[in-house]
Amino acid sequence: MSRPPVGDRPSPFVSAGVADIDHIWDGCRDELQAVEHHIRQSIDSCAPVINQAAGYLFSSGGKRLRPLLMILSARLCNDRVPRERLVLLASAVEYIHAAALLHDDVLDDAAIRRGHEAARMLWGNKASILVGDYLYTRAVDQVIRLGNSEIESALADACRRMVEGEMLQFSNRHNINIADTDYFKIIECKTAALISTTCALGAIIGGAPVASTAALTQFGRQLGIAFQLADDALDYAAHPDKFGKTLGKDLHEGKITLPLLHLLSVCTPKEKAAVQGIIECNGSSPHQGFDVVLGLMDRYQSVSYTLERSRHHMALAIAELHAFPPSAHRDALEVVADYVVSRDH
Ligand code: FPP
Ligand code: MG
Repeated sequence: MSRPPVGDRPSPFVSAGVADIDHIWDGCRDELQAVEHHIRQSIDSCAPVINQAAGYLFSSGGKRLRPLLMILSARLCNDRVPRERLVLLASAVEYIHAAALLHDDVLDDAAIRRGHEAARMLWGNKASILVGDYLYTRAVDQVIRLGNSEIESALADACRRMVEGEMLQFSNRHNINIADTDYFKIIECKTAALISTTCALGAIIGGAPVASTAALTQFGRQLGIAFQLADDALDYAAHPDKFGKTLGKDLHEGKITLPLLHLLSVCTPKEKAAVQGIIECNGSSPHQGFDVVLGLMDRYQSVSYTLERSRHHMALAIAELHAFPPSAHRDALEVVADYVVSRDH
C-alpha cells in the first residue's frame, strides 16, 4: 500500500489552544507594534545592502515570539515597567534572534526562511553574515542604552551559549552515535538560552525579586527546549504548504535530531544501516532518502515520540509559572507555551 504524501497524512500535532494565541498577540498589540516600529526605524545604515537585507528579513514574517514573551514576563512581574525600556530590550532580543538566523542560514545552506527565499539566496553568504553582524551591533547599542549591567551580562551569556550550541551541532553532523544528552545540550544552548534569557530579562527589567527571575529563567529554558523539539519534529512532519522552511532539511544536512535518534534506537540493525547510509550520502538522492526515513518514522512513531517529549518540557515550563499568583499574564504565558508545542508550521 502506498503511503499518502506528507501533506495528506493526519497531522500528529495537537492543536489545543492554538486559536487562543491570536487573542494573546492582540492583547499585546500596542507594545508589539512599538517594537516593530523601533526595529525597523533603528536599521539606518550608510550601507544600502544592510537596510535592504535587514528590512527584507523583518518584512518576511516571523512570529515575534521573543518580544511577546518578554512583554508578558515583564508585565507578569510589574505592570508599570516603562514602555520605552521594554521596547528597547525586546528589540535588542529580536535583533539578536535575526542575526542568529542570518548566520544559521549560511551555516545550514538554507534556501528558504519564513516562507521566502533566505537572505543569502538574494544577497549572498558574505553579505548575509555582515548584515547579521550589523544587527548584532544594533542589539548591543540598545542594551547599552538601558544602562543595566545585569541585562548586559545575561545577554552576553545567552549569545555565547548560542554560538557554543551551533558549534557543538556543527561538530556532530552525521554523528549517529551522539548521546541524547549531547543533543539536549545543543538545543538548550542554540535555542533555549535566548528564550530563557528573554523571559528572565522581563523579570529583571520589571525589578522582580530573585525568585521570580529564577522561575521565569526556568520557564523560558523549558519552553525553549519544547520549542526546539517541536521544530525538530516539524522538520519531518510539518504541513509542507504552511511550513516556512524546506522539509527534510535536517536529514539532508546530517543534523541528528531527536526524531532520528529515536528511530535509530528502536529500528532493526538492517534499517539502522539503511538510515546511516542515507545520512552519509543524502546529497545524492535527498527526496528518496527522506521518503525512506519518513516511512520508518511513521512505523516507529518517532515524530509522535518527539512531540511527547516536547509536551513534557512544556508542562515543566508551565509548572514554573505556579511561582506566581494567578493573573491574566500568567494565563497568557501558558497559552504561549501551549502554542509553541502545538503549532503545525
Ligand atoms: C536555528 O536552528 C538557529 C538557532 C536557534 C541559533 C543560531 C545561532 C548562531 C548561528 C550563533 C550566532 C549567534 C549570534 C548571537 C549572532 P535550526 O537550524 O535548527 O532551525 P531552522 O530550521 O529554523 O534553521
Ligand atoms: Mg537552520
